[in-house]
Amino acid sequence: MGWNTLDDMELGAKRVLVRVDVNVPVENGVVTDDTRIRRIVPTIHDILASGGRPILLAHFGRPKGKHVPEMSLRPLVPALEAAFGVPVLFCADCRGPAAEAAVATLKDGQVLLLENTRFHAGETANDPGLAAEMAALGDIYCNDAFSAAHRAHASTEGLARLLPACAGRLMQGELSALETALGNPQRPLVAVVGGAKVSSKLELLGNLVEKVDTLVIGGGMANTFLAAQGIDVGKSLCEHDMTDTARTIIAKAQGTGCHILLPGDVVVARDFKAGAANETVGADACPADAMILDAGPETVARIVTALESAKTLIWNGPLGAFEIPPFDRATNAAASKAAELTKAGQLVSVAGGGDTVAALNQAGAAQAFTYISTAGGAFLEWMEGKTLPGVAALGG
Ligand code: 3PG
Repeated sequence: MGWNTLDDMELGAKRVLVRVDVNVPVENGVVTDDTRIRRIVPTIHDILASGGRPILLAHFGRPKGKHVPEMSLRPLVPALEAAFGVPVLFCADCRGPAAEAAVATLKDGQVLLLENTRFHAGETANDPGLAAEMAALGDIYCNDAFSAAHRAHASTEGLARLLPACAGRLMQGELSALETALGNPQRPLVAVVGGAKVSSKLELLGNLVEKVDTLVIGGGMANTFLAAQGIDVGKSLCEHDMTDTARTIIAKAQGTGCHILLPGDVVVARDFKAGAANETVGADACPADAMILDAGPETVARIVTALESAKTLIWNGPLGAFEIPPFDRATNAAASKAAELTKAGQLVSVAGGGDTVAALNQAGAAQAFTYISTAGGAFLEWMEGKTLPGVAALGG
């Protein structure tokens, strides 16, 4: 890897500016999913153990350069203290005299959380002035926010160029899992890509057909691929204006030798609601007044066969309308099989992005996966083959 880690830095008595992503769901002031907080604990503990003083920089929501009280990071302090097991001080600004004073009073064994970086317009503009003000608060920069690394912002990109910089433990873990899954994978490599729209995953699909051996396409986007083959998908979610694009992706896959696995049978219903009456039909036999809401059992069997012969799996997006049972069956069955093969040591399984983690959690499979990314948009951009500015700035 081309970037430094905490092991390469002399941390003793140093002020370490740590860019974290604690953009977590909060309801009535209470964190409802602390996954992202738990995942940064090793970085904080390692810095503290080396005698460094962690100063956290983070965004929360999209306040667009304004001070929006509801997007303050202050309510996260109790959750951070519970996770780190040390006092977490808070400063209501991430730059300027107040932040300088807070940093000056920080003692060994304490963590300082600075207010939402996005309260300053210079953050998203990657303003060099703001980056310099933040740089003045620390001696070392540590980026542990892979999930925000697709943003070229002052705290994710500009700052990395002003101080000795390194990747935190979570960033390290994310990058090495993604490298194992797509950069230098054991083959055969299977990708499962689901979700509603081809249009939002176009670049991702185009990149994957160049890299994977089998590409399983599920969810609403599979309907667009079926339509591209002249199949009538009834009232299914389908981007008819993307059928040319789907054909281009199929042609590209033929050129690269990537096998595209599309549904051969589907579960259809007339209503988009949990428990709706449904039937399984051939993928080319969706009734005109029905919609495809899941892949059928024959398709699941083919996915299972592909997984059984695979060595690596990368998964993004559900295979059906997993949020409304029973249209979660294909997702659950494929996820359970991936979990079983991973536990047996036969498969390296990496998943991330948006709905994916929720779907794998619902299937009870997430725990068994080799690696679950904390990233949404960054995971997608990485699957698209893009260089993430926050990673590039670390010199990787
Ligand atoms: C996320 O939640 O995916 C990251 O924190 C990035 O947030 P953003 O999409 O608002 O930049």
